[in-house]
Amino acid sequence: MNALLFHNCNLRNFGRLKSVLSPYRTKNSNLLHFKRHCTNTSTNSSKCLDSTKGASLIQKIGIGLSISGGLFSFSLYNNNVVLCKSRISQNRLAGYRTMSDKDAKFDWQKFWSYLEPHTWYLLAAILGTLIVAILNIQIPRMMGEVINVVAKYSNDLAGHNKFFQDMKIPAFKLIIMYIAQSTFTFFYIFMLSKIGENVALKMRTDLFNSILKQDIAFFDEQRTGELVNRLTADIQDFKSSFKQIISGGLRAVTQILGCAASLIIISPHMTFITLLCVPSVIAAGTFIGSKLRNTSRTAQNQIEKATAIADEAISNIRTVRAFAMEDQENELFRKEAETAMVYNEQLGFGIGLFQAGTNLFLNGMVLSTLYMGGYLLSTNQLSAGDLMAYLMATQTIQRSLAQISLLFGSVIRGLSAGSRVFQYINLEPNMRLRGGVVLPTEEIKGEIQFKNVTFSYPTRPDQKILHKFNLMISSGKTVAIVGSSGNGKSTIVALLERFYDTDGGIITLDGHDLKSLDPSWLRGNVLGLISQEPVLFGTTILENIRYGKPDASDEQVEEAAKLANAHNFIKGFPDAYNTIVGERGIALSGGQKQRVAIARALLKNPSVLLLDEATSALDTESEKVVQTALEQAAKGRTVLVIAHRLSTIQNADIIVVLHKGRIVEMGTHEELKNLKGYYWALNFQQHEDPPAG
Ligand SMILES: Nc1ncnc2c1ncn2[C@@H]1O[C@H](COP(=O)(O)OP(=O)(O)OP(=O)(O)O)[C@@H](O)[C@H]1O
Ligand SMILES: [Mg+2]
Repeated sequence: MNALLFHNCNLRNFGRLKSVLSPYRTKNSNLLHFKRHCTNTSTNSSKCLDSTKGASLIQKIGIGLSISGGLFSFSLYNNNVVLCKSRISQNRLAGYRTMSDKDAKFDWQKFWSYLEPHTWYLLAAILGTLIVAILNIQIPRMMGEVINVVAKYSNDLAGHNKFFQDMKIPAFKLIIMYIAQSTFTFFYIFMLSKIGENVALKMRTDLFNSILKQDIAFFDEQRTGELVNRLTADIQDFKSSFKQIISGGLRAVTQILGCAASLIIISPHMTFITLLCVPSVIAAGTFIGSKLRNTSRTAQNQIEKATAIADEAISNIRTVRAFAMEDQENELFRKEAETAMVYNEQLGFGIGLFQAGTNLFLNGMVLSTLYMGGYLLSTNQLSAGDLMAYLMATQTIQRSLAQISLLFGSVIRGLSAGSRVFQYINLEPNMRLRGGVVLPTEEIKGEIQFKNVTFSYPTRPDQKILHKFNLMISSGKTVAIVGSSGNGKSTIVALLERFYDTDGGIITLDGHDLKSLDPSWLRGNVLGLISQEPVLFGTTILENIRYGKPDASDEQVEEAAKLANAHNFIKGFPDAYNTIVGERGIALSGGQKQRVAIARALLKNPSVLLLDEATSALDTESEKVVQTALEQAAKGRTVLVIAHRLSTIQNADIIVVLHKGRIVEMGTHEELKNLKGYYWALNFQQHEDPPAG
């Protein structure tokens, strides 16, 4: 039973971890590993798991258990031993940040809002469960009647002819009950799975929707693996716990109550003694529950962390391979997965102890029933059938209690998984995706102005990127921004796209404050961004370009590709526009990827083109062609170009030189060249003499 419980509560995590960890565990390296990462200088040995003393697992995880007077007193190691904190600043985990889910509360109201549409199914499921429970309560009594008939004929050989006659009714009733029990079991399981799947689907889509709506700053902090884990594992956990709690929990509680009533009817005396111990079990269960919940939450967090590492390593496999970091990544993952395993072992240990205690108590109950029941039978105060019914009812109570202790793990997991899911579902972004002024297309001129803009990234509030930045980009003009790396050029583009809001000052489009405009409309219709590191989706080239305008025809897609000088290389592929570009566009060269991205941006025919190093990945020859294409595309649009290469910017109407978030020079190419200042230094330093002062 313990094994079953353990299996049930930790199946997913253990399944996942076991397969990864077993080779390492056989080498007995897991605990040594922890030791290696312990803070050597620490004098407080309790900060690390000490593997050298040969202590048993129980000692290592520091669980103290004492049973006194039928009450379990449970003390989880969490308070006694702090798991060794590895020197994470020495590995790439140093940047690991997870939103603290300590304050994540299970949102009952929200949960009810998911359940409410399925109230009828829920009621049907509850009714089915109760009927099964009531039948389970009746069955022992009916069985008692059958036993009484059997007992009667075992002593009365002469009257055996009437046996079948007497047996007929109780046996028939019992058969009917068995059939009804099976039918309603099927019914409530089916109902519950219907509700569970529907609720899980709604939660999953709501969570995904909420994640997609979060501010870009949220993604600066979170790791993909963490988010994916909440979308998959946590919702799965929550769903199975919900189903188990409703079916198992409700049935078990009803059966306990019903059977307890049966017991009182059969023998109040025996029942009184049996039930004396129950409150202490409930008290112990509640106490242990609160302790284990914390451990469960920690374990789930840890698994999330391990998943995030695996996710990052797998999606960056080329970098991992290029730096021959496979072993280090493996080690990093193993360490985090091992920590998760330790937490889960602790959880399993606690649950196991509880179950073991419950079993001991219940078996004691059976023995004392037999003891007392036998005595009452011998003094004719109880019939054989009554004793049988009593025993069966106590067995039902025993099974129900065992079920509750099994459920106990589910409740803990379900609540903490649910809290984590609701935490993100309820998270409100600062910036809404929709809502605000939408300008008529024909009125858009594309005049952009930055007025006294001050900005620092939310993750680094102390580092000012722009200080009172002012810039006017007149309608239909091409403005180039140059400046050395890290000066805030891409930040200007990010602010225009409203990936972030300014800390001070305003940005306007045709005189309208950007904050007053509908952000989705702005991004989808006015701005066309070709970013520094364009990323494609793992689908066909056709669909990637069409991403810029989902209702575009194949011809329009082809037109945009021609404009971006991409048509010829696409036609060169055996599958042409249906070529799959691989995850994030990995199966295309840098220049090809860039041109597909340009086509994607041009397809939506934006009024304002934002080119952030758009041609940096192209060779000189393709750059020329794309440059011509972009110049062609720039006609009638406002263009903001960020580029390092002279060729891309020298025809700009105005060139702005940015230095440490401030404009230091401004003018045409010729003017700035003659000025021999920053611009000159940026572009000509290597070819001519340095500026004279
Ligand atoms: N998401 C972010 N969170 C925090 N800081 C950031 C973020 N993105 C950029 N920064 C910081 O802001 C500063 C300006 O970055 P930005 O990307 O605008 O530079 P850039 O001028 O485009 O440089 P490059 O020419 O190398 O592309 C840098 O110091 C950078 O480290
Ligand atoms: Mg940049």
